[in-house]
Amino acid sequence: SAETASATLQADKPGPQIHRDVFGQFAEHLGHGIYGGIWVGKNSRIPNDGGYRRDVLAAMKAINVPMVRWPGGCFADEYHWRDGIGATKSRPTKVNTNWGGVNEDNSFGTHEYFGLMDRLGGSTYVSANVGSAPPAETAQWVEYMTAPQGTTVLAKERERNGHAAPWKIQYLGIGNELWGCGGNMRAEYAADLTNRYAQFAKSANGPMLKIASGPSDSNYEWTEAMMRIAGKNIDGLALHYYTRPRDKNWADKGPALGFAEREWASTMAHTLQMEEFITKHSAIMDKYDPAKRVMLAVDEWGTWYDPTPGSNPGFLEQQNSVRDAVVAGLNINIFARHADRVKMAAIAQMVNVLQAMLLTDGARMVKTPTYWVFDLYKPWQGATSLPITLTSPWYHKDEVAVPAVSASAVRDAAGQVHVALVNLDPNRAMPVSVAMTGLQATQASGRIVTGPTMDAHNSFDSPDAVTPQPFADARIAGGTLSVTVPAKSVLVLDLR
Ligand code: AHR
Repeated sequence: SAETASATLQADKPGPQIHRDVFGQFAEHLGHGIYGGIWVGKNSRIPNDGGYRRDVLAAMKAINVPMVRWPGGCFADEYHWRDGIGATKSRPTKVNTNWGGVNEDNSFGTHEYFGLMDRLGGSTYVSANVGSAPPAETAQWVEYMTAPQGTTVLAKERERNGHAAPWKIQYLGIGNELWGCGGNMRAEYAADLTNRYAQFAKSANGPMLKIASGPSDSNYEWTEAMMRIAGKNIDGLALHYYTRPRDKNWADKGPALGFAEREWASTMAHTLQMEEFITKHSAIMDKYDPAKRVMLAVDEWGTWYDPTPGSNPGFLEQQNSVRDAVVAGLNINIFARHADRVKMAAIAQMVNVLQAMLLTDGARMVKTPTYWVFDLYKPWQGATSLPITLTSPWYHKDEVAVPAVSASAVRDAAGQVHVALVNLDPNRAMPVSVAMTGLQATQASGRIVTGPTMDAHNSFDSPDAVTPQPFADARIAGGTLSVTVPAKSVLVLDLR
């Protein structure tokens, strides 16, 4: 009927693998993203493992964090790696001009980043300074990180600083937002520079994929120029796209909590534009790279609202609610549909910044609704995507009209099929019927993330207001999965 979403899931037509790095994180030197949020130092009273918060390490490991991008963002194009090595006491204090004008004491540097990744596991993603440092600086940093033990002067310096063995760099970012905070460049100029920096950055420790600074939103001219001029010398092109309520603007993005349904609706509409941007950037990439060798890396995505009242506006602190959980589910479903081209992504940002997984306050920590969505989607990491097409009833609010239900499906390494259904309608539960082929399953159950209000969230006083709940209200009969997806929810079903 018109009020039922109907879908077909073809388990016998497996699609591309969903790379686990699509569930990557971004951790910038920004506000309490690193200092206080991840790194408290060895002498802190906050429980830590060599300076890293134990609560944050445990929480991130529990969602199998596959990759962390560092040190920026805008910070990357002002960062000089030599400031962050050697004895902590001798490291220079500088000003973080991008984010709040606060002092940056460089106590978290290259060794501390790789120490974090040793503890978390997962791929490393280091963003190099193209905007304000010469190519030799990038080349030497890569050599410092990757040269074999005891070989070059830089390898020996790394050893003196406490790490004899080389590290692996899975991804090297060639600058960040070179059209903006990375140097206000024209696309052609940025592409020329990309060729130059890529040429001299040579990993001595295994493959290192080079990710060019890519477009934001619908800047297709940027993608065109980058692919035409630098496409052969890069392995990935970054795409940055942030969600804010569509009827708002950068100066007035609206609050993270206490918003009207109108803002909910326009946030959803704005999020769904991700599909169009990925599709159109991919089409341009297809012209230059039909074999899809170069990935589209959505290495900054997530919600961006007005900062928490009373916080330093340069710290980009915001609360995280059921609205953010639904935004995360929609974006992940879009990435899953584009697994052929989107092989890496990073939500902005991991702790205390924008759409964070975790919020900290002194020794306290809460897991956000977005964190729980990443927990629900763990089976998607490295799984085989399965085609699922869906016709959904519309959700209408004022001038917004968007499909209410979004879906994705995977088969994990053990052979189990999982289906994600997101209902963005904040008022109506949505019956969904999924006709399935190539599947013997007879039962479906799983977990759901939702809450009593659109802005239900976890606070330090009430950290478990929004957590995944078991969901068993689904059935399979005659090869069809039937389920009513509650309003404003993200539901993941495991089929058996
Ligand atoms: O994530 C915050 C900032 O947003 C990043 O530093 C920058 O790349 C983007 O503009």
